Amino acid sequence: MLVIKTEKELKSHLSSFGNGESLGLVPTMGALHHGHVSLVRRAISENDNTVVSIFINPTQFNNREDLEKYPQSLIADIDILEKLSNKIAVFAPSVEEMYPNGVGSTSYMFDGLDQVMEGAFREGHFNGVGTVVETLLKLIKPNKAYFGEKDFQQLQIIRKLVEIKDIPVDIIGCPIVREPNGLAMSSRNKRLSTTLRKEAGLIYKTLETAKKKFGTESAKSIMDWVKDQFKGHPFLKLEYVEIVDVGTLMPIKRKQDNIKYRAFMAVYANDVRLIDNIALN
Ligand code: PAJ
Repeated sequence: MLVIKTEKELKSHLSSFGNGESLGLVPTMGALHHGHVSLVRRAISENDNTVVSIFINPTQFNNREDLEKYPQSLIADIDILEKLSNKIAVFAPSVEEMYPNGVGSTSYMFDGLDQVMEGAFREGHFNGVGTVVETLLKLIKPNKAYFGEKDFQQLQIIRKLVEIKDIPVDIIGCPIVREPNGLAMSSRNKRLSTTLRKEAGLIYKTLETAKKKFGTESAKSIMDWVKDQFKGHPFLKLEYVEIVDVGTLMPIKRKQDNIKYRAFMAVYANDVRLIDNIALN
């Protein structure tokens, strides 16, 4: 498998493609699991060539400890990708390669999409994500780039990013891949004990019930019910639950038939922060 470390090697790989060959990009921070693999499989099936980037982006971590504890497993990741296709190249740059002018973020105007939920609880997070994704899209120039609905707010912000920066790429959203108990797959799940992993199934169970209730109950009563499910829980602490309009990510006011809504949650399982979401209609 071709593992590219520098911009120079990347340029040389990109220029080796035949005329008119398409390119798909899957940006990741590594510690690959079935969720990432589903994006990579989709990219392989829709493009002549695929680049998977693996880069733990320091500017999107608002918490130093979270960055330091983020799992790293480049050799295992390459092994996973190698088994999928020989048309994949991995781009795994150093921090200096990605931030040649020093580590820092651009300040974006995302029309308020970054002011709620993850943006409200993780200061500077989406400027960090925007900075690294803009750099990757401009370096790699894919026809399509793949992102998971697991990070639905991120997906919407990236759609906004390519609109405001006028970057010619199709942003493809992919469904959430879950563990058998419903827990959304995440690189952070590696830090959960067996007991916590089992207990964390409550997050999706709660979202599924919220979806059922959405037909008949008010958003406020659903959110109160969700909060109750976590009250006094020995290991799980609810940080937020929101029901929002998927276009604006603003809290629902009066339910309208022509608007799509989603419920979002962030939960601490001891010190591991987990997020999840579900389409309600
Ligand atoms: P990371 O958390 O590694 O996720 C990489 C991609 O995989 C994201 O688009 C994410 O939404 C998707 N993904 C993660 N878990 C998933 C699951 N269970 N089902 C489906 N898709 C899943 O998200 C990032 O990295 C970074 O913010 C990045 C975009 C790479 C910028 O640094």
